[in-house]
Amino acid sequence: MAKEGHQGKNLSEIAELYGIGQYDTHFFLCTGPDCCSPEEGLAAWNALKAKIKELFPRMRDAKIYRTKVGCLRMCQEGPTAVCYPQGRWFRGVTADKVAEVIDHIHSGNPAPHPLEFKQNPLPRG
Ligand code: FES
Repeated sequence: MAKEGHQGKNLSEIAELYGIGQYDTHFFLCTGPDCCSPEEGLAAWNALKAKIKELFPRMRDAKIYRTKVGCLRMCQEGPTAVCYPQGRWFRGVTADKVAEVIDHIHSGNPAPHPLEFKQNPLPRG
């Protein structure tokens, strides 16, 4: 069954709806249940969606793609997050911290953010 808004579209058209092809960052947020409670994870996820919408009101113009994941294998001090291709890993990305983490990444500031605990940048393809 197709998701609302996807009916009658092929994958290429759906990808275009989401702006795939123009992103410079893919941000993955773990919503628990081991690094944080599901409630804390969901609150962070909702804050992330709001922040990205604030930065990019039209999804097709967004430069940051967001994905909710079930586990990034750190399983403590969450919500855990990682973004690629920068490969910046963050702890404690709670609802009240999401905006500053996204602003830090979006600014291109290479200095580690206080919540950043590891880097593993990927080569840009
Ligand atoms: S449950 Fe979040 S990193 Fe494992």
